[in-house]
Amino acid sequence: MDLVSVKWIVLVLCLSAGCCSAQDALPDGPVEAVVGSNVTLKTLLKEAVYDVILWNFSDGKDSINVVTLRASGPKVSERFAGRVSVDKATGALTLGPLKVEDGGDYSISAVGDATWTGETKLRVLEPVSDVIIKSDPLEAIEPNTTVILTCTAKGSVAKFTWINGTAPIMADGKRVTQKDVETSSSLTIRNVLRWDLMGPIYCSAANTLETKKSAPFNLTVFYGPEEVTITPPKPNPFIESGSNFTLTCSAQSHPPATFNWYHNQTQMKFSGPILSLKVIEGEGYGKQAADYTCKASNTKTNRMVPSPAVSFTTMEAVSGANVVGPTSTLIAGNSSANLSCSATAGTVKTTTWLKDDQPLSAGPRVVFSSDMSSVLINPLQKEDNGNYMCHLGNPINTVTAVYRMVVNYGPDSATVKGPEAVEVGDLIEITCMAESVPPANITWKFNGTMLNEKSTKYTIEKAEYQNSGTYTCEMHNTITGKMATKSHFLSVKAHGALDEGLSDGAIAGIVIAVLVAVGAAIGLFFYCQGKVPVTESPY
Ligand SMILES: *[C@@H]1O[C@H](CO)[C@@H](O)[C@H](O)[C@H]1NC(C)=O
Ligand SMILES: *[C@@H]1O[C@H](CO)[C@@H](O)[C@H](O)[C@H]1NC(C)=O
Ligand SMILES: *[C@@H]1O[C@H](CO)[C@@H](O)[C@H](O)[C@H]1NC(C)=O
Ligand SMILES: *[C@@H]1O[C@H](CO)[C@@H](O)[C@H](O)[C@H]1NC(C)=O
Ligand SMILES: *[C@@H]1O[C@H](CO)[C@@H](O)[C@H](O)[C@H]1NC(C)=O
Ligand SMILES: *[C@@H]1O[C@H](CO)[C@@H](O)[C@H](O)[C@H]1NC(C)=O
Ligand SMILES: *[C@@H]1O[C@H](CO)[C@@H](O)[C@H](O)[C@H]1NC(C)=O
Repeated sequence: MDLVSVKWIVLVLCLSAGCCSAQDALPDGPVEAVVGSNVTLKTLLKEAVYDVILWNFSDGKDSINVVTLRASGPKVSERFAGRVSVDKATGALTLGPLKVEDGGDYSISAVGDATWTGETKLRVLEPVSDVIIKSDPLEAIEPNTTVILTCTAKGSVAKFTWINGTAPIMADGKRVTQKDVETSSSLTIRNVLRWDLMGPIYCSAANTLETKKSAPFNLTVFYGPEEVTITPPKPNPFIESGSNFTLTCSAQSHPPATFNWYHNQTQMKFSGPILSLKVIEGEGYGKQAADYTCKASNTKTNRMVPSPAVSFTTMEAVSGANVVGPTSTLIAGNSSANLSCSATAGTVKTTTWLKDDQPLSAGPRVVFSSDMSSVLINPLQKEDNGNYMCHLGNPINTVTAVYRMVVNYGPDSATVKGPEAVEVGDLIEITCMAESVPPANITWKFNGTMLNEKSTKYTIEKAEYQNSGTYTCEMHNTITGKMATKSHFLSVKAHGALDEGLSDGAIAGIVIAVLVAVGAAIGLFFYCQGKVPVTESPY
């Protein structure tokens, strides 16, 4: 037997008995391609000469020949006419443009130097398109709505994925479940919450060749009102009447809440988030302490939620404080003063009195009226001179008024300061003083004779003997009518008559001079001897 006839026997045996000694001609499949494209089913055949290459197609029921390639050329079956070509060298089949019904099993048999067979599956995929999310219902209300999102797509979809923003949504099988059928996927969310589906949400439909994403979708979830609060939550219990005070109501709500206001459970005419004191006073409220609440309403959820109450009273600020006191001339021991403090506007809650910045306290001479608005001082004394201040206050503010009280008094006594003796030619200065309001008028006398001096200091530039004598000052207060007199005797002596002893400074000067002289004398002594004793040499 020659080699050729042996080969033919093997081929015949193999084809008839389905024997597997033939080599595998195709790589592992399946092969996927999109409708309308061309696909090439590659082979594992080495470049060689084949007598015949057969491609067959089976759609699962019938099996037909696609193309038979001989040395004479390819023979294409009617069904694939014009849409296939075979590579002579490798036997690869190029098919296209693809139709959906081209999907199925393709097999090859190549007989030449060797025998090759193989089979692979071709999947013809339809392009993915029209990926759309639909929601039922379109709008949800927290917390009891179950929402079903359905994603549909056209084409060959192998897998649906739901994405929230960028992260895939994981179905937990309880609150969130996902169910996929051939060309749609449904995502069911029980008790949907406001942030569940505000990704935005996308649906992606994919096959091995392509992935298409839906348009972004947000589910509108209505909620609230929640956390309904008034700002400020604890206002000052007293608010200045006419001020720009406001109460602001806020709530977590979608759609945004509308607000109504209540004065002690009675609905006010005003509605809106910001209730101003102007409106409150305009509706005739404020003067009495009252509770204010707001109620937030949501038209979609049909819920109305009240805020905690806040409470306050309006009060007018105090202004125009004034102290009225005596206008007549006041004399210590013989006058009294009634100081009264009042304001032109506002509610005065507290009145306090100060004298010269110290609290004015009641006493036998100082009696306050029961409401503290006035104080009677009787009789006035010289200590009562000073600044009287009254503070009128309420929780809103405090105002102050001042009254300056002048109590005339004195002089009760006078004092004189001056030397008792001077030497001829010395300066003489004699001063006279007396406590008095207003300051007393002064009259100087010498030996009973009036001097032409009106100031409290009487001066003689150079004393003479005839200046010896009695100097008298008379202090007279024209308002109180009181007078005080004081005399002072001065004697003028001869020059030097008063030099008895040395001053301290002079004594110190002399002591230092003596010490210096002694030191100098000792120094001179050693200098004259030519040696200093402590440095004497032992040699
Ligand atoms: C597909 O193959 C046909 C012939 O079978 C050819 O006319 C066409 O240009 C090819 N298309 C593409 C996209 O390669
Ligand atoms: C919502 O569900 C809660 C319990 O989950 C229930 O108490 C409530 O009554 C429900 N509300 C409505 C409006 O159905
Ligand atoms: C969806 O909601 C997100 C977050 O609030 C927002 O950024 C996005 O613009 C919304 N998209 C649409 C389509 O409404
Ligand atoms: C209210 O008035 C005060 C001073 O009168 C001012 O400082 C404040 O900014 C005002 N507030 C508002 C909200 O207008
Ligand atoms: C007090 O005033 C009365 C009447 O004005 C007068 O008679 C009396 O002398 C005065 N006394 C003194 C101490 O000023
Ligand atoms: C003091 O003056 C006030 C205001 O004029 C008056 O109401 C009050 O009775 C006076 N007090 C006395 C003790 O006279
Ligand atoms: C003043 O009085 C004193 C003693 O009373 C007397 O020594 C002196 O001479 C008098 N001086 C004159 C200028 O009268």
